[in-house]
Amino acid sequence: MPLLEVTDLRTYFTTDAGVARAVDGVSLQVGVGETLGIVGESGCGKTVTALSVLRLIPSPPGEIMAGSSIRFNDEELLEVEPARLREIRGNEISMIFQEPMTSLNPVFTVGYQIQEVLRLHRGLSKREARAAGVALLAEVGIPEPDQRFDAYPHQMSGGMLQRVMIAIALSCEPRLLIADEPTTALDVTIQAQILDLLVEMQRKHGMALLLITHDLGVIAEVCDRVVVMYGGQIVETGTTEEILTRPQHPYTQGLLASLPGIGDRDVRLNPIPGTVPSAVDWPDGCRFRDRCSFAWERCAESAPDLLPVDGRSSRSARCWLLDPDEAAGRGAHVTPGEPT
Ligand SMILES: Nc1ncnc2c1ncn2[C@@H]1O[C@H](COP(=O)(O)OP(=O)(O)OP(=O)(O)O)[C@@H](O)[C@H]1O
Ligand code: SF4
Ligand SMILES: [Mg+2]
Repeated sequence: MPLLEVTDLRTYFTTDAGVARAVDGVSLQVGVGETLGIVGESGCGKTVTALSVLRLIPSPPGEIMAGSSIRFNDEELLEVEPARLREIRGNEISMIFQEPMTSLNPVFTVGYQIQEVLRLHRGLSKREARAAGVALLAEVGIPEPDQRFDAYPHQMSGGMLQRVMIAIALSCEPRLLIADEPTTALDVTIQAQILDLLVEMQRKHGMALLLITHDLGVIAEVCDRVVVMYGGQIVETGTTEEILTRPQHPYTQGLLASLPGIGDRDVRLNPIPGTVPSAVDWPDGCRFRDRCSFAWERCAESAPDLLPVDGRSSRSARCWLLDPDEAAGRGAHVTPGEPT
């Protein structure tokens, strides 16, 4: 049984422009102690997926639609009572965000904020919570943790604050940590250190990790498996190795092609042309077709399902090219694997 099993998740928002189908039929699983990466460009529904798991979607304007299911440790999160939900958040599932500053209160010391979490969730006394908090700061690599405990957030660098957020997330020994772009706001050297720390903590504490990023380079360093999202849907799944070495979906191929080589991390070599369409207005047929150099008439007629790759359900891609009958109808002039 997977630790987290999301089935047919649909999270929609009512906006002035219409209904934004931000997450539109996402199914994924995370095993005990596993690291799953979610990758995709801005606006493809990564954060909304994560917030839905914790039921943190503001309603209105958001709504998790009927038929969606989010099972954690065999408990349906979409049906649990608010008190149980509060217990799960923090105790069993923790989340860290891109901007640590927005998650911390600027008027309290970081130590006070860690202490409060420890007192609330672990029932420690003030003195015990301070000792445990200082130990946690040391564990996440903060030098002079005893002094740092009494610092205010603005007195710490972005990298240090992200370490504090990881300490807070770990304080309740969660079984699942959701990290939404945890290194995006940091400079490259610090990014690598924070990723190393996440991996070290995950192994040490036996946590599962759901890592959200727009950077396949981050996925390559950390994840066991990957789901690639586009247009509120999963367009490809596989192991990290499969995704990086044998991507099947044209979108994944585009993401890989735009991955900078070693030594030129700030260079975007071949960005995918065009932009992600609006969630209120996904194109009919394949949602990627306006940007896909392989597209043909079939892609406009109807949307492809996730099709198995190599006959395995754990490896799939949402593209008509993977259906041999459909791909055959694309025309003899087309060389498979070559853009038209
Ligand atoms: N509160 C909201 N009201 C209306 N639309 C929303 C709301 N939150 C998210 N959306 C829409 O949902 C879609 C998916 O957003 P989401 O934040 O999940 O993208 P993302 O993949 O995390 O992107 P990024 O890489 O920029 O963080 C977007 O089109 C966004 O406009
Ligand atoms: S279904 Fe068509 S448009 Fe969509 S990714 Fe495949 S080839 Fe491209
Ligand atoms: Mg996001």
